[in-house]
Amino acid sequence: MEVQFYGHVRQYLNHKDEFDKAIQDVLMGGVYTLGPNVSKFEEELQAYTGMKYAVTLNSGTDALWFALLGWGIGKGDEVITCSNSFFASAEAIWLTGATPVLCDCRPDTKNIDVSKLEALITKKTKAIIPVHLYGQPAEMPKVKEIADKYGLKVLEDCAQAFGAKGDTFKLGDLSDAVATSFITAKNLGCWGDGGAMFTNDENLAAYVKKIRNHGSTKRSHHSIGYNSRLDEIQAAVLRIKLKYIDQYNDLRIARAAEYTQQLQGTSLKLPVAVAGYRHIYHLYVIETPKRDDLQAFLKSKGVIALTNYPIAIHQQEGYPWGTDSDPKPCAANCEQNAAECLSLPINPEITSEEVKYVCDCIKEWEAKQ
Ligand SMILES: Cc1ncc(COP(=O)(O)O)c(C=O)c1O
Repeated sequence: MEVQFYGHVRQYLNHKDEFDKAIQDVLMGGVYTLGPNVSKFEEELQAYTGMKYAVTLNSGTDALWFALLGWGIGKGDEVITCSNSFFASAEAIWLTGATPVLCDCRPDTKNIDVSKLEALITKKTKAIIPVHLYGQPAEMPKVKEIADKYGLKVLEDCAQAFGAKGDTFKLGDLSDAVATSFITAKNLGCWGDGGAMFTNDENLAAYVKKIRNHGSTKRSHHSIGYNSRLDEIQAAVLRIKLKYIDQYNDLRIARAAEYTQQLQGTSLKLPVAVAGYRHIYHLYVIETPKRDDLQAFLKSKGVIALTNYPIAIHQQEGYPWGTDSDPKPCAANCEQNAAECLSLPINPEITSEEVKYVCDCIKEWEAKQ
């Protein structure tokens, strides 16, 4: 049996008529950027998230970057995020000219370890970016408490957790802004690149809306900005996928429960979900010191498993260390996670039979150890 990591083509085929019609309508409508689908999608995102403003963009990186710029964060400032995230969580900080300060993750949930946050705060700290990694919300009440104590902004990186929520909070409740990515691999993903920033702050929303289009809100009137527009075809695709997002997330949760049940008793460290949180399992990440061996064995059995992420951000060759006095990361758990993590195939379209096959392969591998 072959088990793919993603179910993009299956998802397209499951709603083929709907997708084909939406794309045809865009093509026949003749407006391909900043048209009716982008406006309607932004309204629908506002309704779904309960946030006052949703500004669509070309990527999740831009959503993070632009929110920081909107708060005037730049050279001489520090922003804290975690080192086991995708590189862009820190890259967006670098792009403003500020310095990323990398915090460790919890050894269980892999989200930012809030107990280590305060020690990293200095006079230069301006914001915290908690990442809802793998689909599980970070401990937002504690992040908010610390941010309020030091007067810091909070920007949630929700690129992996659209539709997730905590026990007492939804995403956006305990922060100043939320950034998300719609790149294809994400749980709410289009067929190319996309992203959005959500906020209840009218000024921030207006700023981001302006700089996404060359600093312009009125034709031929400009100030310095960027080109970061979501196109109409992607918006049309996302409007359809947004209708199904809760259903898609429920399917991920159901398949994750099957993995967890069938892998109990193996030597693998399984994902830990906080009680009461809606972890939407954008990724189902296990850990084993023999990660590379297991990944190769699964591949030989036709199963594609990936690594998210095999190199911690501060260990990347391209990590732009500045001076010797740059803040050094506290990230021992992130380094271990990078060495041992393995993402098993999960998506709304994967079948229970496929999950069972993956688990059987893992058990076969275990028997050989
Ligand atoms: C946690 C996280 N933050 C930010 C990003 C950046 O999003 P994009 O690739 O749309 O720029 C991604 C994914 O790519 C991500 O997983």
